[in-house]
Amino acid sequence: MTSLLASAAASPAAAALTLTDLLRITGEYADEVRSGRRAGPAEWPRTERWAARLESTAEVDVWLISWVPDRSTELHDHAGSLGALTVVSGALREWSWRGTRLRTRRIDAGARAAFPLGWVHDVARHPAAVDGAVDSGLAPTLSVHAYSPPLTAMSYYEITAGHLRRTRSEATVTPER
Ligand SMILES: [Fe+2]
Repeated sequence: MTSLLASAAASPAAAALTLTDLLRITGEYADEVRSGRRAGPAEWPRTERWAARLESTAEVDVWLISWVPDRSTELHDHAGSLGALTVVSGALREWSWRGTRLRTRRIDAGARAAFPLGWVHDVARHPAAVDGAVDSGLAPTLSVHAYSPPLTAMSYYEITAGHLRRTRSEATVTPER
């Protein structure tokens, strides 16, 4: 299957892509998944969040993630990586830290969201999500995520007395764990 990253990777200064690049890339891959040109697994895990890498270059990693009820990511950042997502089917709920409080938003199928450096958020399947059909079977809520440079670490946070506090950092290449 041809890569959708050719135009971005051809940029001579593509040490890291921009949020605009990442939004476009996730939208293009989401279209491929939705149309069936890029297939997920035959059996979707029903009880755990699941991720598969769709593309990997020196500049960007692209992942397909499935979401199940009652499994949020915890508050986290993406270390030195920019990120973006497009929801393929169902809907996500995001809580993001805005300096003094958490702000929540619903991200429906087809909608995109960008995560600049320093973005701290928690993501989960929206409880009102209606899962769409992928291929012939019902799928969990699905989203395509892209990170540039590719994810290497995530830090986790808690809110204590109204303040955001980092609790731990982990090396990882797997997003939204
Ligand atoms: Fe995230």
